[in-house]
Amino acid sequence: MTKSSPDRKVSQNLNASRRNLLRGENDSSFENLLNERISRRVAISRGGAIAAAGIAGAVLLSSGLTFPTVAASENHDELSEGDEAILRFLSAAEILETDFWQQYNELGGIQDSEVPGGSGSAPYTAALKVLDADMDQYIHDNTEDEFTHFTFINAYLTSRGGEPVDLDEFRTLPSSKATGAQQIGRLTNLMQLTVDTSYWNKYRSRKKNPDFGDTFPQAVPDLSKGKFPAIPRNDSDLKPHDHIQAIANTAGFHFAFIEGGGTSLYPSLAQRVTDPEVLRILLSIGPTETMHFQTWQDKAGNAPPLTDPTNGLTFPDLNKLPFDTEDFQTNLIMPEPTIFLDRKFPVCSIIRPTETEGAAMGALEALTADGLFIGQSKKFFAVLQDLANEADLAKRSVESGGN
Ligand SMILES: [Fe+2]
Ligand SMILES: [Fe+2]
Repeated sequence: MTKSSPDRKVSQNLNASRRNLLRGENDSSFENLLNERISRRVAISRGGAIAAAGIAGAVLLSSGLTFPTVAASENHDELSEGDEAILRFLSAAEILETDFWQQYNELGGIQDSEVPGGSGSAPYTAALKVLDADMDQYIHDNTEDEFTHFTFINAYLTSRGGEPVDLDEFRTLPSSKATGAQQIGRLTNLMQLTVDTSYWNKYRSRKKNPDFGDTFPQAVPDLSKGKFPAIPRNDSDLKPHDHIQAIANTAGFHFAFIEGGGTSLYPSLAQRVTDPEVLRILLSIGPTETMHFQTWQDKAGNAPPLTDPTNGLTFPDLNKLPFDTEDFQTNLIMPEPTIFLDRKFPVCSIIRPTETEGAAMGALEALTADGLFIGQSKKFFAVLQDLANEADLAKRSVESGGN
């Protein structure tokens, strides 16, 4: 099914009508559109299995990565509106993740056929390797994972008659001018980050849970206040030593912040998915974000304590006073059990938060507060907010079986 198919048009008109209704605007065509969509679904369903999804071609992205396109399949019913909205928001989130992970990989990872683009920055890569000798490999692998996440979700959306997400028109932000980076338009900005490092304590607390409204102290308080680069902005950022090391440390803490967000986002949204296969997708991608998070918080714990001489950004020694408690000790990377659902239950080792209400908008707000979108257009924010709103409106529907 293509973007211009009759059913797609009905779907787009339906979404527009629904948005008008949400804004309080009267829209008499809403019911007609809904009926038209339902009757088309019934027709597709009666048609039964016709053809399996197949690779129909490939699109070359500006990054050098290829984006396989998949022909629509008619061996499934069309996605429910809620499932499509959840997958579309996740696709957008994964496209954004891919964009900034690619920027990290160009300068600090391994540039190869799996993750092409860029030629590396030796001083930045060396500073990252202070956190772990395999940092370049892990950056490469995390980048490839994100690429597969969004290409899979978009291909799946297409195969179920849904609309894949394309944010290419927003690739307008500048690249780093440091040697090793590609000079292409970006979706995200890694050069003015305000990193929330409270995740450090969130998973080390036995008594608190963000789902209960609890908040947590920062591991690196300075990172949560200012605006700092996580990649060198140009070759002047490559020295002095403690400056480029501070940039690498910022990246190290940012990696865990991002992947910790994905760790919560998938289980939060999975609670409102209807189709078992869509649920399987969320339950299969989500834990890979957790694998990333666990790796990255272990590496962040190796970030050397220092103060950046150019801006005063200080990375404290988390294993020394006043930090040497169980809440900060760097090798305590396994989650502590904590309160879950209700305080009447015994503590449990869990992902936190997993509250489903408003989860997509919460994720978007966290990424915005991180500074990733500094410089983006009003239209960009409007599109992302629309995708998040639609996902947060999704309701699990057992009775309807997804139709
Ligand atoms: Fe991802
Ligand atoms: Fe991720």
